[in-house]
Amino acid sequence: MRFYVETFGCQMNVADSLEMARRLRARGYRATPDMDRADVVLVNTCTVRDHAEHKALSFLGRLADWKELVPGRRIVFAGCAAERLKDQLQRRFPQVDAVVGAKSISDFDRLLDEQGLFPGVGGGSCSGPPPPLGGPSQKGGKKILDERGTVPLFDGKKEWTDAWGWSAGLGPSGLPGEGATAYITIMRGCNFGCTYCVVPSVRGRELYRPALSILDEAAERVANGQREVLLLGQTVNSYRPVGSNPGRDGKDIRHFSDLLEAVSALPGIERVRYMSPHPHYIDELFAERLGRLPQVPPHIHLPVQSGSDAVLSRMRRNYTRDDFCRKLDLLRRHVPGLAVTTDFIVGFPGETDDDFEASLRLGREADLDGAYIFKYSPRPGTASAQGPDDVSDALKEERLARLMAETDSRSRAKMAAWVGQTQTILVEAVRPEGDGFELEGRTAHCRKMYVSSRRSAAVGATLEARVDRADGKTLYGTALDDRV
Ligand code: 5AD
Ligand code: SF4
Repeated sequence: MRFYVETFGCQMNVADSLEMARRLRARGYRATPDMDRADVVLVNTCTVRDHAEHKALSFLGRLADWKELVPGRRIVFAGCAAERLKDQLQRRFPQVDAVVGAKSISDFDRLLDEQGLFPGVGGGSCSGPPPPLGGPSQKGGKKILDERGTVPLFDGKKEWTDAWGWSAGLGPSGLPGEGATAYITIMRGCNFGCTYCVVPSVRGRELYRPALSILDEAAERVANGQREVLLLGQTVNSYRPVGSNPGRDGKDIRHFSDLLEAVSALPGIERVRYMSPHPHYIDELFAERLGRLPQVPPHIHLPVQSGSDAVLSRMRRNYTRDDFCRKLDLLRRHVPGLAVTTDFIVGFPGETDDDFEASLRLGREADLDGAYIFKYSPRPGTASAQGPDDVSDALKEERLARLMAETDSRSRAKMAAWVGQTQTILVEAVRPEGDGFELEGRTAHCRKMYVSSRRSAAVGATLEARVDRADGKTLYGTALDDRV
C-alpha cells in the first residue's frame, strides 16, 4: 500500500505532514512521489488566506477523478482548512474518507486506530490486497477525526501528547522536507489574537512540547545526518512551559532561549533555525544567545505586518513601530550583520495612504534583507472580518507592488554585496553538472546558493564556497575546498 502526500502552507504543515507520513509508514504503508501509484492521498491544507484555502480545495476537487479510477483508493483531508471547514466538507466533497483537523494531528495515529480506516498492513509490504476496512467506515460514513488528546497538564490545562514525536528508527521517507533540515515542532497553537488571523481558531491555544522529547528527536535526527534543525511553532519564541521541563542535564528549560541553547549543545549539530518568532518575545536574553551561539545563524524572520501604529493597534499586534525597531536594534547590537526578513500585510481594513507610506518607510529604514508581502484577506470568524474589507483589490495590488519593489531592491543590493565573499553552505541537493557537480544549499543567512564543485558532497554536509554572482534572491558560486 502506498501513500502520496500533498502539503499546502507553512513549514508547520510540512512538519505535520511528515509526522502523519511516519505514522502511516509505521503501519506498513510506503511513501510514493507518484500520485497515480498511490492507494491513499493525504492532503494537508492551509487556510491563512482565502487563496491558500482555495488551492487546497481545488486540489481536493480534482481528486474525485483520481479516486474513481481505482476501487479502494482513499483520501485523507488534514490541516487548517480541514479544521475550519470540517462540518461542510462531508457535504461538499463526498470523496473524502477522513478529515483530520489541525487540532487533531498529534492524535492522528490513535484516531486512525479507533476509526479502523487504515489498519496496519505490517512489515512494510507494498503488495497484496488492500487492508480490510474495519469499524463504522465500512458503511461508507465519513469520519471526522477531531478529538483532542486528553492527557493532563503541560500548559496548565492539557499535556502534549507524546505519542507524537520522532518515530525512532523509521528513517527518512524521501518526502519533501526530509532533506538536510530536520523540521521539529516545539509548540502548537497561538495565544495572540491578531484580528486578521484565523490561526488561533484552527490551531487552538498554545501547547508546548516537553524539552526532552524535542532534544531526543533533534539528537536522533542529527545522528541520521540532518545537521540543521528548524524549530517550529506559530510563535516559536513564546515557548514557556509551566512546571518541570528538564533538559538532558536535568536543568529546567524555562523558555525559548534555554531551548535554543540546549539544542545548540547537541553533539554534531551544525545549524539551529527557528520559525516564526513574535516580536513581543524578543528580549535581551534571546539576543545575547543569538550572538553567542555559533550554531544559531545570523538570520531572523520576524513578521512586522505593518509600519503604521494605527494599523498595528487595530491588528492587535502588541507592539508599535518603535518597539519593533528597538527590538531590531537590540538584535543587531548582539549580532552584527544579522539578516532580517519579515512579513507585511497590505490593505488591512482602514489602511490609509499615510498608513501604507509608514510601511514603505519601515521597509526602507529597517534595512531588511527581504519581505513577504500579502494582500489582506478577510477570514471568516476573525475580528477584522466583522467589519468591511474596505481597501479595494486594485489598491491592495498597487500597494503590494510598491512595497515589493522597495523591499526587493534592498534585498538585491544586499545580495550584490555578498559577491566575492566566502560563505559556508549547508548542502541540500546534489546534481551532476559537466565534469563535476552542482551543489544546492543555503548560506548561514538563509540565502539559496548554487555551487559548482569538482567533487560531490553529501546532503547535510557543509562546505566553503566563494560567491561569484548574485541574481534576484539566489547566489551562485564555486566550492573552495575540493576535498568535500
Ligand atoms: N490576510 C493576509 N495575510 C495574512 N497573514 C496571516 N493572516 C492573513 C490574512 N488574513 C500573513 C501574515 C503572516 C503570514 C504567515 O501570513 O503576514 O505573518
Ligand atoms: Fe496569527 Fe498573530 Fe498568532 Fe501569528 S501571532 S499565528 S499572526 S494570531
